[in-house]
Amino acid sequence: MNILKRQDNNPETKGIVMHHMAWAYDLGCYLVGMGAHFRRKILQLAQLRSGEHVLDVGCGTGVLTRLAAEEVGNEGEVIGIDASAEMIQVAKRKAVKVHSKATFQLAVVESLPFEDERFDIVLSSMMLHHLPPELKVTGLREIFRVLKPGGRLMVVDVDKPTSLIGRVLMFPWRKDPAVKDNLEGHVPEFIQNAGFLNLHHPRAKWRGFISFWLATKPGK
Ligand SMILES: C[S@@+](CC[C@H](N)C(=O)[O-])C[C@H]1O[C@@H](n2cnc3c(N)ncnc32)[C@H](O)[C@@H]1O
Repeated sequence: MNILKRQDNNPETKGIVMHHMAWAYDLGCYLVGMGAHFRRKILQLAQLRSGEHVLDVGCGTGVLTRLAAEEVGNEGEVIGIDASAEMIQVAKRKAVKVHSKATFQLAVVESLPFEDERFDIVLSSMMLHHLPPELKVTGLREIFRVLKPGGRLMVVDVDKPTSLIGRVLMFPWRKDPAVKDNLEGHVPEFIQNAGFLNLHHPRAKWRGFISFWLATKPGK
C-alpha cells in the first residue's frame, strides 16, 4: 500500500486528522524535540507498571504506544487507536519492524470500540488540540468509560502559552476552533467535567506551551 495516497477506509470525524503527514510525522517530531526522549518522559510521569492495560488515543505513528509496551512487559497490553488509516498503517509497520507487542486499530476517540472499564491507564498525547470542543467532551467521556475505577488519564497537550516561543508558534492557531480552547487554558475544565478527579501537573510546561496533566477516575 502506498502511504502517500489517501486511503478510503478513514472513519468520519470532525477531529483534525493528519493523513498526509503520516510518512514524515516522526521526523517532524524529532526535529522539534519531541522524539523518543520526550515520550519516555511522558511515560515516567504516567508511572506505568508491569502488567497494566494501556490505551493510547490519537496514537499517530505509535512512538509512545510502542515505548509503553516495553514498560508494561509481557503480562501487559497496549493498544493505540487513531482516526487516520495512514497513521495506523505506519504504526503497524514500525511495530512489526521492532517486534513490539503494541497493537493498533483504526478508531475515533469519540466512539471507542472497547467495553467499559477495560484499561488501567489512557494516554492522550497531542490529540486534544485536534478536537473541536464537542469532540473534546465526548472523547473524554469515552476515555472515562473505558477506564477502570481508579484508572489514570495522562494528557499531554497544548496549553495557554507562558513563553515567547509558545506565543509565537501558536499565534496562527489562536482562532482555530480545535486549538482555541487549549490556548485559552480550558483543558483542565474539559478533563474535570468528564468526571476525573485529582487533576494535577506532574511537571512544569515544556517550552512554555505544552502541559502535562494526570487525573484519576474515581471509584477505587
Ligand atoms: C499531533 S498527532 C499526535 C500523535 C501522537 N499521539 C503523538 O503524541 O505524537 C494527533 C493525532 O490525533 C489523531 N486524531 C484526530 N482526530 C481524532 C479522533 N477523533 N480520534 C482519534 N484520533 C484522532 C490524528 O490523526 C493524529 O494522528
